[in-house]
Amino acid sequence: MENHVLARFRNKFWFLICVLFVLWYFLLYGFDWSSLSVVSFVSQNEQENSLQALASNSISRSGDTKKQEDFDESLDSDPIPESQENPVSNSFPESNVTVFSDVNHKQENVTVTDHERRATEHDGIEDLAALEKELEPLLPKEEGEERNVVEKPRAAQKSCDGRYIYVHDIPSRFNDDYIKQCGLMNKWHDMCQYFVDGGLGQRLGNPRRLFQPTGWYVTHQFSLDVIFHSIMKQYECLTSDSSMANAIYVPYYAGLDVSRYLWDSYSYSVKDSDAHELFKWLRGKPEWNVMGGRDHFLVAGRITWDFRRAINDDSGWGNNLMLLPESQNVTMVTIESSPWDQNDFAIPYPTYFHPSSDEQVFAWQNKMRKQKRKTLFSFAGAPRPNMEDSIRGEIMAQCTAVRRKCRMIECKDEKHNCLKPVNLMRLFENSVFCLQPPGDSFTRRSTFDAIVAGCIPVFFNPGSAFVQYLWHLPKDYDSYSVLISEEDVKQKKVNIEGVLSRIPKSKVSSMREEVIKLIPSVIYADPKSRLKKLEDAFDLAIRGIIGRIESLKKEMREGRNSSAEFDPESSWKYYTFGTTEAHEWDHYFKRPRGIHY
Ligand SMILES: *[C@@H]1O[C@H](CO)[C@@H](O)[C@H](O)[C@H]1NC(C)=O
Ligand SMILES: *[C@@H]1O[C@H](CO)[C@@H](O)[C@H](O)[C@H]1NC(C)=O
Ligand SMILES: *[C@@H]1O[C@H](CO)[C@@H](O)[C@H](O)[C@H]1NC(C)=O
Ligand SMILES: *[C@@H]1O[C@H](CO)[C@@H](O)[C@H](O)[C@H]1NC(C)=O
Repeated sequence: MENHVLARFRNKFWFLICVLFVLWYFLLYGFDWSSLSVVSFVSQNEQENSLQALASNSISRSGDTKKQEDFDESLDSDPIPESQENPVSNSFPESNVTVFSDVNHKQENVTVTDHERRATEHDGIEDLAALEKELEPLLPKEEGEERNVVEKPRAAQKSCDGRYIYVHDIPSRFNDDYIKQCGLMNKWHDMCQYFVDGGLGQRLGNPRRLFQPTGWYVTHQFSLDVIFHSIMKQYECLTSDSSMANAIYVPYYAGLDVSRYLWDSYSYSVKDSDAHELFKWLRGKPEWNVMGGRDHFLVAGRITWDFRRAINDDSGWGNNLMLLPESQNVTMVTIESSPWDQNDFAIPYPTYFHPSSDEQVFAWQNKMRKQKRKTLFSFAGAPRPNMEDSIRGEIMAQCTAVRRKCRMIECKDEKHNCLKPVNLMRLFENSVFCLQPPGDSFTRRSTFDAIVAGCIPVFFNPGSAFVQYLWHLPKDYDSYSVLISEEDVKQKKVNIEGVLSRIPKSKVSSMREEVIKLIPSVIYADPKSRLKKLEDAFDLAIRGIIGRIESLKKEMREGRNSSAEFDPESSWKYYTFGTTEAHEWDHYFKRPRGIHY
């Protein structure tokens, strides 16, 4: 009996040992730890859903489940699309989750590792960062961080006096409805992906650690109409009383309007019709009659030449928005202005960087300061074999000739290298100088991508930046850039590598530091969360626009008319230097003959 009990006890004992061993073994080796993360994925999805519900401005897109295809990441304001071939697929996230809170340094580092671990696994990268940002208020903060948070919100810091803006409530047919027609805007690929998140586009994530975990988007170069309006909706000095406004904003998406009609043949009256209708609508408003629209402004995210069709012929390019009588009174803001006209002013092209805090900008600037730059100069772009005057062929030949000192991404190649922000930013981040030859027009988006990457821009024509971005770039051109004469390159009188390698090291360092300091001025911060200490491109644009409108008001009070005081052909000189006297740059601004814009 005793033996029997003992045996049973022993059996139980060994059974228990066995069970414990099996448990222990599983704990050590067998248990799939990753299955635990199921919990976090579930909560993440919930988070996403609630965020999506909150997300403003997100639009439904036709190809949501489709992999994002190539971006028209043309570097130039290039009216000619690179190619009609099948786009390459790539792995950028599809999410339109919106992020509301600020980032702090500690959080950022946590995000980097988590984020990148997931990035290698699958494409849904961005959500985790968004989740962490959302949870941030709940997460413990480091003590040191609190010390920096003494700053008051900007609205409390800075008075709104002198910078009130009234926004016209125009019918949606002049803005939001264009976004719904995004499928029409470019027949070679889907533009709709670029209008999510208030025009910032899809999240870029941090592929190859070239960027930061948050704040980077696949932004299209022609998205500024939408981005500007998104930021304006959050502007701290909006007023509903137009009589106390310092400026009146017309949120017409002129760039999107005209882009519907650029590629197929439309009659000129179709191309022009919305611009005419808009002005008809505006003229019917009491706000217009106060000053004949001279206190109004609008922002068109395309180059001025898309709005200056001088001939009434169906084959003419673009519409005639900028030539209409009303447009002579309204301050027209574009990404490239005409050197020969008085009524438009340029502000920077959007880049991929849309930070949501000052700290994020500072961290990026520091990253660019430390960046190793092994390439002396680089160029990303396409040749212009059909443009007799283009210096691009010569520039590309010189680049090839100096081998390792110059790197190039040629946009004509089948791999669509120029369509990928990763390729471009990697090139610019690794270069000391970035060449910015004119393309179909004076300016290029690439100039601003290069500045963001801390790469010193090399211009060949002052029309590419110096006489354009008067509110954003310093007058002291030599402090942050190099100008090599376009004419000298054309005549093969200049060796670019020679010029650049002769610049002393100390001068190069100081120029690069100036470029890095310019970064905040050329980026459009995330509309959902404005910077507190730094002024971004939007802030500088508002200051410039209001300054311009103030001077028009002053003129009217004094019965003057500055437009009559100088020849429009010399506008570039008048606006840049305040005079129209002969200038050493005159030869750059001979109006090309035979071109009907
Ligand atoms: C983006 O938002 C739209 C509209 O809110 C929604 O229909 C779509 O599913 C969202 N896409 C993703 C990838 O979350
Ligand atoms: C975060 O990253 C920065 C820059 O790489 C580094 O200086 C800092 O020590 C890191 N912070 C933490 C908490 O890891
Ligand atoms: C432009 O402004 C002037 C001065 O206020 C005004 O006389 C003129 O009618 C305006 N033009 C248009 C088209 O409204
Ligand atoms: C100012 O002068 C320009 C050029 O002569 C003219 O087109 C414009 O109508 C004038 N504006 C006003 C308000 O008189």
